[in-house]
Amino acid sequence: MGLVQDSRGLRILDQTKIPHSEEWISVSSSTEMIGLIQRLAVRGAPLIGVAAALSIAQEAHLFSPVELRTRLRLLREARPTAVNLMWAVDRMLVALDRAGPAALPLEAEQIFTDDAKMCEAMAAMAYPLLPKNGSVMTICNTGGLATVGIGTALGAIRYAVEKGNSIHVYVLETRPLGQGARLTVWELANLGIPYTLVTDSMAAFLMCRKKIHGVFAGADRVARNGDVANKIGTYGLALLAKHHGIPFHIVAPSSTFDSECANGGAIPIEERSPEEVRFPFAGSEVQVWNPAFDVTPASLITALVSENGLRENGSAGF
Ligand code: MRU
Repeated sequence: MGLVQDSRGLRILDQTKIPHSEEWISVSSSTEMIGLIQRLAVRGAPLIGVAAALSIAQEAHLFSPVELRTRLRLLREARPTAVNLMWAVDRMLVALDRAGPAALPLEAEQIFTDDAKMCEAMAAMAYPLLPKNGSVMTICNTGGLATVGIGTALGAIRYAVEKGNSIHVYVLETRPLGQGARLTVWELANLGIPYTLVTDSMAAFLMCRKKIHGVFAGADRVARNGDVANKIGTYGLALLAKHHGIPFHIVAPSSTFDSECANGGAIPIEERSPEEVRFPFAGSEVQVWNPAFDVTPASLITALVSENGLRENGSAGF
């Protein structure tokens, strides 16, 4: 888990330091949390929502409702793509309006509990899609680090392994920031689940040369028509999966579904610093485009799984 709230207060595991060191940072303000979210010390769609809620809960007794509302608005804008952040902040705003600042700690606790429960439930829903004995591919980090539970896509893989399935995980390194190479590999090693790391550009040839039973990815936002925004590279992976006849599944909690967003074209895509792409090969004069996410059209997704069930492509509402 990438976050702890106990008698010592709120602490986050700095994900920029993994796997080289495990450094916990005490967080005492929502302003500090915004910085941590923006530099990806705290990351992953579900986790940033929970972290935002807990950081404002700590300030409930310090500020007026007007000031708390301003702080919640700033937290809501910390990153634009993962709708879980807006989902959690909006729950806190409703609690504040309904019962005042005293209601915030309880609401944050509930958001924490809900996230952990959704992880467990969606893993059970995704279980029939996992091979009994076989290999899967995944991108980015969708495990315990990205949530306060077992994770989304990686949580489903872990759940199946704990039920006795024999699964080998091919992990895409996930350029430019290496969430796959640094974080997913670290989690799989800790869990004792066998894995192989590949660069993003090896995905097509891997699908061609090895038997891959399915691709499992998470999501940062699911539009009403089933289009999915997720880490940059997901769209390409879905296209490759289609070409090779490999099922492509998205596992995400209901907090990632945005009923106000009609389709993928309406999802705001975060663009990050050019330095992230330049490092380590290109100089500071090199022109760069660095979208942190892409959008996979619903037509490329075999099944969309949440804690509420499994929607297969072609079924009503997809
Ligand atoms: O930029 P990040 O590392 O926060 O991006 C995270 C992802 O894209 C994950 O795949 C997504 O949040 C789904 S899962 C937990």
